[in-house]
Amino acid sequence: MESALGCDDEGEEKQQMSKSDLIIRIAGEGGEGIISAGDMITQACARAGLDVYTFKTFPAEIKGGYAMYQVRASGQRLFNQGDTFDVLCAFNGEAYDLNHARLKSGTALVYDSPGGDFEPDIPEGVFAYPIPMTATAKELKSPKAKNMVALGALSQLFAIPEVSLREVIGAKFGRKGEAVVQANLAAFARGRELAAALTKTDPFAVGQAVEKRDVVVMSGNHAIGLGALIAGLDFYSAYPITPATEIAQYVAKHLPKRAGTLIQAEDEIASIAQVVGASYAGKKSMTATSGPGLSLMSEMLGMAFMSETPCVVVDVQRGGPSTGLPTKHEQSDLFLAIHGTHGDAGRIVLSVENVRDCVDLTVQAFNLAEKYQVPVLLLSDGSLAFSTQTIPYPDPDSYTLVERKRWDGEGEYKRYQLTADGISPMADPGTHGATHIATGLEHNELGMPNYTPANHEAMQDKRFRKLMTVAADMPPAEVDAGAEEDMADIGVIAWGSTIGVVREALQRLRAAGIQAKGFYPKLLWPLPAEQFEAFGAGCRRLLLPEVNFQGQLAHFVRAETSLRPESYTICGGLPFTPDMIVTKVKEMLA
Ligand code: COA
Repeated sequence: MESALGCDDEGEEKQQMSKSDLIIRIAGEGGEGIISAGDMITQACARAGLDVYTFKTFPAEIKGGYAMYQVRASGQRLFNQGDTFDVLCAFNGEAYDLNHARLKSGTALVYDSPGGDFEPDIPEGVFAYPIPMTATAKELKSPKAKNMVALGALSQLFAIPEVSLREVIGAKFGRKGEAVVQANLAAFARGRELAAALTKTDPFAVGQAVEKRDVVVMSGNHAIGLGALIAGLDFYSAYPITPATEIAQYVAKHLPKRAGTLIQAEDEIASIAQVVGASYAGKKSMTATSGPGLSLMSEMLGMAFMSETPCVVVDVQRGGPSTGLPTKHEQSDLFLAIHGTHGDAGRIVLSVENVRDCVDLTVQAFNLAEKYQVPVLLLSDGSLAFSTQTIPYPDPDSYTLVERKRWDGEGEYKRYQLTADGISPMADPGTHGATHIATGLEHNELGMPNYTPANHEAMQDKRFRKLMTVAADMPPAEVDAGAEEDMADIGVIAWGSTIGVVREALQRLRAAGIQAKGFYPKLLWPLPAEQFEAFGAGCRRLLLPEVNFQGQLAHFVRAETSLRPESYTICGGLPFTPDMIVTKVKEMLA
């Protein structure tokens, strides 16, 4: 079955409509301002105190191709983008055609007519609102403002707060000049008038939160940038690649304010080399990339492990292999993240579930890198990178920061001293009495090249010994047991942003009387095998959904534990939806 976020899915019935959990999808062509309009709805809903969770997909081309922005807004806590829309706003015929299968009775359609490029055959039971978006924008002599006409109509029809939207329009287009702001406000107002002239027949309206909370709306990419700043980032070497570039853009804006340095390197190989070099020089360092860039970094990641140099590498996974699907979602870099380098080399691999995690686990990644003097890879993904979510305001003072173990100046300095826990003191270059070599060649305790069998074995043992306590340094993987205390009918293991989808699916399964538990590891390597085993022991059947072809985490679980989860994989460039997990579990248990 295709994901319900896709467009040719004949699958599930739409969830029961609910005014307190509304999903609006805007769809059209890249370059028509779909993203801007979606962002504005998101901001307005968040200002109303609602939880928001967005999903967007757009083509790899700068202009043209199908673009879509989905906003889910609710008075309840949200964990994912939802199954499908309640309201579709179609900017053109292609967007309408691609979403037609999901326009079920009870959904609402706002579309460009008259004057658009299509005239829909409205399915029975769909609440339809024709709004002349293109024609009105032309009439107002601001063709770019078609999206604002649509936004005005959506605001009027579904009670998206007008005042907030007007403020957001001013803020968004302010840098383009007052004339642009005024033209857009005029288009917005006209859109509201056009919609007000129609008779509202649907039951949908954006709600108001009961209580105001201290929250902020951020994208996954920006949250990783924020997490790095909180962790004490000194140096960032950037090489742009979709969908990771925004991390560098965020850091570039804020890092110089605290005398940190961001450099744009000539490629990913240079960028990881600069990170390793800067960390060797004593600076907390990172880079962020996507699959193709991580492939290029493989050799230097081995060098970082061998030279015991802390570094953080964020991999915002996208559809592969090769250049693949640059703007689409996938969880397919786990093999590369865990084992992607030559020789026997180790590393720590973490993965984030949501935007909140993007802050917290980035701090954690730095702490682990500094403590264990190893590369730490933080896996995000394409849907999370661009997803904006409401998160509690992150308080920088609430995080514990770990600094690397440094030489105390006593005795002979041995950079690679064989210690009980494998961790040896570091010394910044130039430290009196601590001259040493850090090298990719095998070396002795002083860092001098040494290829004897006994030395290589002792040093490999030291480097891998460090990793044995990592699991104990992280909070244990969350077990989502609901009210289940006994053996569950089904246990679902999930990683990355699939976790949020599973959370909601389990709630629905429990409501349907199925005993279901979830297991959500954030540390993927070294795999916390004992925690997996303990979870598996409490479930009759196990399911492991992931967005890749080969079932990559399932592969590691089978290799490292006695568990044999059923692998459920999709790779259509879109995330799972809760109804897909619910359907799969019901099939398994039938
Ligand atoms: N009035 C004036 N300007 C407007 C406007 C309006 N009513 N509505 C939108 N715009 C501007 C936006 O401000 C933005 O300009 P900016 O770039 O100066 O900020 C621009 O028009 C595009 O609008 P936006 O809403 O951001 O995007 P879109 O929905 O039109 O979609 C993209 C276009 C962003 C998806 C597309 O251009 C893109 O970047 N695709 C991805 C490319 C990529 O990463 N490829 C991978 C390579 S490996």
